[in-house]
Amino acid sequence: MRRFILEEAASTQDEAFRLLEAHPSVVVMARRQLYGRGRRGHRWVSEGGGLYVSFGWRGMESHRAMLLNLIAPVSITRLLSRFGIEGRIKLPNDILVKGKKISGILIEKRGDMTVLGIGLNVNQDKFPDDVHATSMKLVSGKEFPLEHVLELLEREIVRNMELPGEEIAGMFNRYLLTGTIRFRYRGREVEDTLERINSRLEAVGRKGRYLLPWMEDVRYLEGS
Ligand code: BTN
Repeated sequence: MRRFILEEAASTQDEAFRLLEAHPSVVVMARRQLYGRGRRGHRWVSEGGGLYVSFGWRGMESHRAMLLNLIAPVSITRLLSRFGIEGRIKLPNDILVKGKKISGILIEKRGDMTVLGIGLNVNQDKFPDDVHATSMKLVSGKEFPLEHVLELLEREIVRNMELPGEEIAGMFNRYLLTGTIRFRYRGREVEDTLERINSRLEAVGRKGRYLLPWMEDVRYLEGS
């Protein structure tokens, strides 16, 4: 993958789409983003110290692109564990450490281009009061060189993309926060006890199965 490291970008997502016009696959990191995008129109606070990166591919087969929803959280939690930090996956694809968000994932498609954006809190010392977040530095007391974290993350993602869906799902389940969840699904409110996800991208509950991309506003009522 062709790697680009920028001091500043509006959003690495847009940079990745632009660079994909000229390269089949790219990795774009920025030390700061002016308009970092989160899911569902939210903003992603992107001040110095965090890792803001987008991985982009042209012509990715659509099942693989869907599997990125599992591959990305698995890659991030495995990366954290290499640094002795225990991350858990909260559906749909947030990474928490001790109940606080440490990483978020945004997957976007435009034509035949797929871009996976990852925001990982690495060296931040604090967050705005209304943001319930933590960083690798806050939980470990250590600083981490961003390029090194990026290199290990890229390695995880490239490696995990080669694995069969069942294996990815198995790893995802090891880190998944289970328990009672409430969410919107195809226009109705559902409450169920989440047990695991499968490689068909379904969340398996006690009462039913739900396609992950269709689950909205997932809230955990209690969990493990
Ligand atoms: C979320 O809402 O949890 C997803 C956050 C995704 C943020 C990352 S930072 C790198 C990439 N560029 C963006 O503008 N957003 C993603």
